[in-house]
Amino acid sequence: MQNFTFANPTKIIFGKAVVAKLGPAAAEAGKKALLVYGGGSIKKNGVYDVLTESLRKNGVGIAEHPGVKPNPVLSHVRAGIAKARKEGCDLVVAAGGGSVIDEAKAIAAGALFSGDVWDFFCGKAQVREALPLFTALTLPATGSEMNCGCVVTNEATAQKFSAQGPAMYPRVSALDPETTLTLPREQVANGAVDSLAHIIEGYFTASDTDAAVTDEIVHALARSVVSSTLRILEDPADYNARASMMWSATLALNGLASCGYGRMNFINHAVEHSLSAIYDIAHGAGLAIVMPAWFRHHLETDGPARLESFGRAVFGVKTADRTIKALEAFFRKAGAPVRLKEAGIPAKDIPEIAENAMQLIRLWGMKHEQPEIEKILKKAK
Ligand code: NZQ
Ligand code: ZN
Repeated sequence: MQNFTFANPTKIIFGKAVVAKLGPAAAEAGKKALLVYGGGSIKKNGVYDVLTESLRKNGVGIAEHPGVKPNPVLSHVRAGIAKARKEGCDLVVAAGGGSVIDEAKAIAAGALFSGDVWDFFCGKAQVREALPLFTALTLPATGSEMNCGCVVTNEATAQKFSAQGPAMYPRVSALDPETTLTLPREQVANGAVDSLAHIIEGYFTASDTDAAVTDEIVHALARSVVSSTLRILEDPADYNARASMMWSATLALNGLASCGYGRMNFINHAVEHSLSAIYDIAHGAGLAIVMPAWFRHHLETDGPARLESFGRAVFGVKTADRTIKALEAFFRKAGAPVRLKEAGIPAKDIPEIAENAMQLIRLWGMKHEQPEIEKILKKAK
């Protein structure tokens, strides 16, 4: 087990009717909020009304920045920064899924930065400060509600890059599982795949695989994501399954599921970001295509040991091959695409996708070359 530092300052308020608690919390941080949200789901499920009433009742003014698109884009981030400055906002409130929270983080950091916000994403500048951020999460998937990373697409260059920095941890995140009852089935699938991807990246790429406590956290979270998702697919109104899924997805990428693993990498994510950047497909859908292919590659390069332990603990199967099949069957059952062609992506594009992925692979300091990435993608044909 390798040395590690674990620190996570985000306060989580979890359960029914907790969104109304964001007003009092935000009032302690400032007087005017930039309210960031997406295409309108929060107006349909009641989150918008509860949140704006809670902010106003507690004396927090609101300037709205709606229209964040899934796979948020740089131009909209820049517009949000300009609005936050013009309106004199001293805090940011995000309501929605990972895209909304990520864009809110970029705005919160960009509003206090004199340079270009994209510099944070291409490694030219560090995030040193950000406006205080509060979130109401409505889609369990990314873990953005309790981590300090954000992902934005530069639509002019087709680069989907990430920025990090402790200043971007949300101060408080409200997680009400009832707000997820309105999720379309497709987003339930995307969330399940993404949270599983967060759990497995460290587990399978760890430089130190003797960290039993973290392995057991990974196994438990993966079992919980799989069983909660199957319950949700069976009965979308199952509150306890929604609650278990929501907390599992948060814990999957808040730092807990990789403690002691030492050096690790996010290879599935690096490849997927290129699928989202080029074809604008959902992150979860892209991961469902990349992961089974990468697992088959991992079996060839690293052998069956890790896949066997994971499969035994999560799916009750004995071999590496059956583990990969069980994972793929779960993705299919949830309704996610598991091959490039199922998402309408032609195999002839593989070199272009791999070339795009190499940018992030280099930026993240990973030791992979383009031929290897093409080989992985060919297994997803
Ligand atoms: O825009 P609205 O109207 O809100 O609709 C959204 C959107 O269309 C809808 N939705 C959200 N909550 C809903 C709902 N619809 C009905 N009921 C609800 N309760 O769902 C759609 C997808 O939302 P989005 O936020 O894009 O999904 P997700 O949470 O999966 O976020 C994906 C983004 O996060 C990034 C991804 O790359 C992608 O850009 N990631 C962020 C990470 C992080 N910050 O740590 C890590 C991840 O690996 C990931 O890269
Ligand atoms: Zn992810």
